[in-house]
Amino acid sequence: MKKITAVAGANIALIKYWGMQNAERVLPANPSISMTLRHCVSHCTVAPQDDPTSDDQVEWLNDAGDLEPAAPMFRDGVLRHIERLRRHTHKSGALRVATTNNFPTGAGIASSASGFGALTVATCAALGWSANPAELSRFARLSGSGSAARSVLGGFVEWPSDPRDPESAARQFAPPDHWPLCDLVAVIDPAHKAVSSLEGHRRAPSSPYYTRRLEVLPDRTRRVRDALLAHDFTHFAQAVEEEAIDLHLIAMSARPPMFYWQPGTVAVLDAVRCLRADGLNACATIDAGPNVHVLCIAAHAGQVQQALTEVPGVRTIIADKVGDGPRFADKHL
Ligand code: PMV
Repeated sequence: MKKITAVAGANIALIKYWGMQNAERVLPANPSISMTLRHCVSHCTVAPQDDPTSDDQVEWLNDAGDLEPAAPMFRDGVLRHIERLRRHTHKSGALRVATTNNFPTGAGIASSASGFGALTVATCAALGWSANPAELSRFARLSGSGSAARSVLGGFVEWPSDPRDPESAARQFAPPDHWPLCDLVAVIDPAHKAVSSLEGHRRAPSSPYYTRRLEVLPDRTRRVRDALLAHDFTHFAQAVEEEAIDLHLIAMSARPPMFYWQPGTVAVLDAVRCLRADGLNACATIDAGPNVHVLCIAAHAGQVQQALTEVPGVRTIIADKVGDGPRFADKHL
């Protein structure tokens, strides 16, 4: 076993994973499509402990730059995941895990996807297993954060949902340079969300509109994929915004309801519609949080970013773009 640090990007879902067909095996109720990000990343170091008979240790690098014991829920998820990988590789010996994100955690910017993506890549390598992308994706999914299945791949990624496929691995369907889209994340509130995505997946079927969502999704998924492959921003924007609103409609109409939006969220949605009316290629999508991902073509990014800074409720803007997928780093935590 050796010390490894992996870096994985968050991803923004264009078609959202919302609801599971099998909670234990983290199998999604519907296929999803995402774009992996370049700058919003998680770093994760996995190393063998000096005393292999000691307990595994999970640390978190906080904003002040100090390592501290990870919060219990996160720690338990990490421990279960490294144990799963240790069993699979028939390896033994205690591990030390240290991890951090360079962007707000638990605020709907996919920190669990990048976190568990980086953890999966680092742990497999530390255990001496050169897993292929499908294997990495399958194990990342089992971490509990299903969308981590997409963060172990770069570019534009599809995670299918086929009840006959127990492997359920995501795959890249277009490389990062296919369409160099920018993602300007309008941060409305960087705080940890009150209701987890896991709870959202559980409650999704209680919405009276959930069955209808599953009926319309195959067509919408095809529209997003086709528009993306054809660089057709107009149709891309239509389908992506439709999907973002649909996810939150399901969340708000679940029993009990979940409200992720804040006034600033609605203000950004409005501003983006105005920018589009003015001829800019920009559209918005929102994961499970109040923060809005504004997707735009690179040529319009400067103007869009400037306009977003003036929207009431926007605290900061994180400028990101399509990423290449996970990599290893020499600097360890
Ligand atoms: O992967 P989870 O369990 O954190 O769920 C992700 C849920 C959304 O971000 C709202 C949608 C998605 O596909 O990423």
